[in-house]
Amino acid sequence: MNTSPLSPAQTPAAAAAASQGSTLYGGVTNRRVTVRDLAAAKQRGERWAMLTAYDALTAGVFDEAGIPVLLVGDSAGNCHLGYDTTVPVTMDQMTMLSAAVVRGTQRALVIGDMPFGSYQESPAQALRNAARLMKEAGVHAVKLEGGERSAHTIELLVEAGVPVMAHIGLTPQSVHALGGYPVQGRGDEAAHKLQRDAKAVQQAGAFSVVLEAVPAELAQHVTESLTIPTVGIGAGAGCDAQVLVWTDMAGMTAGRVPKFVKKFAELREALGGAAREFADEVREGSFPAPEHTFH
Ligand code: KIV
Repeated sequence: MNTSPLSPAQTPAAAAAASQGSTLYGGVTNRRVTVRDLAAAKQRGERWAMLTAYDALTAGVFDEAGIPVLLVGDSAGNCHLGYDTTVPVTMDQMTMLSAAVVRGTQRALVIGDMPFGSYQESPAQALRNAARLMKEAGVHAVKLEGGERSAHTIELLVEAGVPVMAHIGLTPQSVHALGGYPVQGRGDEAAHKLQRDAKAVQQAGAFSVVLEAVPAELAQHVTESLTIPTVGIGAGAGCDAQVLVWTDMAGMTAGRVPKFVKKFAELREALGGAAREFADEVREGSFPAPEHTFH
């Protein structure tokens, strides 16, 4: 399913970016972005943006806007399904949400997040669940958390033909072990651990790695030391790419958002306003008007 009347390569955002010589945003024309495109972007020094998406409608908007990579994050737990953390999210939920995002897009590379408990048991369990996301939902890659501790699993998935995005630094599935969401990699020992994690996932064959909540200087150093692209979230401007949770970046999230979030819109306010206006008009009898009425 795609509700867009335009092919993604024809969207204004894609055309504008293409005219500036940006290949991920426009020059990739009428096909899916691939992990090879992302590797080539790193070679050229071209930065790119990744957003989360949890449904076909929103994913279609981001696809039309020229966002080259969409992550069906297990942040769906907090942002979409009403949980406090990502921990309760299941494979069934991730499969359903990922399938919707794939259906809603034509051009973006769609990455399905592997939820807590779906890959830590054994590499065999990881392969079974990654294959499910690829076969049932149609995602083009998967993401999982952990550096050195997940390297063996990443290696097995990659050998089996599953493109893997790794996720190091702050790993939200470990929220209860970490006692919250603290910045990672501060101090010599923690910085060395982060660097070892980054090297381990690259060595294991990951095509990219998310660096979450890491000091900017360390993230830049890691980015320069790797051949695969780094995707920063709360990791400063020195990464190859940036990701934000879409509800945060569009101002849909209620209450406080992390320091690293920039709100590019105030959708919660706009949507609430539209709902209040609708209810007011229903109460006062001005909706539906004659133009909304059949006779
Ligand atoms: O689940 C998610 O949305 C993520 C991103 C924040 C990287 O892991």
